Amino acid sequence: MNKKVVVMTGATSGFGASWFHSLTKEIDAEFFILARNKDKFQSLLTGVPTNVKKDVHFVECELSSFVSVFNAIGSIKAQVTSVDILINNAGIFPSDLPCYNSDALEMAFVVNHLAPLLITLLLEEKLRNANLSKIVNTSSFQHFNAKLNLEDVNFKGSEYSAMLAYQNSKLCTVLSTRYLSTFLGKNISINCFDPGIVDTSMTQKAFPKVLRWTHPLLRTFFRNGAKGAETGIYLSTERNVEQNTGGYYKDKRLKQPSLTAQSKIIASQLHQMSTELIRPYLSR
Ligand SMILES: NC(=O)c1ccc[n+]([C@@H]2O[C@H](COP(=O)([O-])OP(=O)(O)OC[C@H]3O[C@@H](n4cnc5c(N)ncnc54)[C@H](OP(=O)(O)O)[C@@H]3O)[C@@H](O)[C@H]2O)c1
Repeated sequence: MNKKVVVMTGATSGFGASWFHSLTKEIDAEFFILARNKDKFQSLLTGVPTNVKKDVHFVECELSSFVSVFNAIGSIKAQVTSVDILINNAGIFPSDLPCYNSDALEMAFVVNHLAPLLITLLLEEKLRNANLSKIVNTSSFQHFNAKLNLEDVNFKGSEYSAMLAYQNSKLCTVLSTRYLSTFLGKNISINCFDPGIVDTSMTQKAFPKVLRWTHPLLRTFFRNGAKGAETGIYLSTERNVEQNTGGYYKDKRLKQPSLTAQSKIIASQLHQMSTELIRPYLSR
């Protein structure tokens, strides 16, 4: 049987590493790891058996740059005829002061929403070429607290907060997952999930400054990488997930996302606006 093809972001740190290691044990696949740091990629391979390692490829990619994403996906497309599993796990908790990419777009909106959307759309044809492919997007329970203003995703006319930028970007993940499920068709399932609170460097960064001293005490209650990755592994490997698409999961179960996340109108508006922003890279 042919090896599956897996494309993954966010494998080099946090629970993405556990997720990747589990997949190397569970499926016979060729892995394309989109990452910005080659040293971290090399560390990720520690402990991976040599016969598996030879099928794990580093694809340099800085997700805040559409050019970098476009080139990275282009190099994968030149090497494979189909993609079976796409995992958009990478994400950032943005800095305290607003930060913008070279297209003057707010960083969390770019890295957590636009980059995964661009990857997905650039790989659409390859995903169609596979016999039942899966897309898994990492969202967050934080999307419940979002206050998304599609007129001002860059916080130019409203007060910026890193937490709100993050929450909005994770709402975009759910909206985009649901919207894409409506036109990707039955042969491509797309789902997103909340991993819970996982003990990673992101959680430390996201902790409110005044409460940061409590972090070492509280982290003992956070999930470890293996637990954080559980639902992602489930969505990327379970057969029956292929019948479900557009879902938001937690602990391997379908959950209702926020009311805003269920709005078809907002999802459609977000999609129109987002595809307009990345259009130059879709039509090249
Ligand atoms: N931790 C939690 O409690 C929690 C809760 C809910 C949702 N999430 C979500 O889960 C996902 C993983 O989070 P985590 O906690 O494991 O975070 P993490 O430890 O900070 O790992 C983030 C991953 O994303 C990659 N990444 C970030 N910015 C990138 C960029 N500009 N270009 C390329 N790669 C980039 C990182 O690469 P480097 O290794 O090079 O930094 C790393 O592999 C994120 O989407 C996050 O929003 C996390």
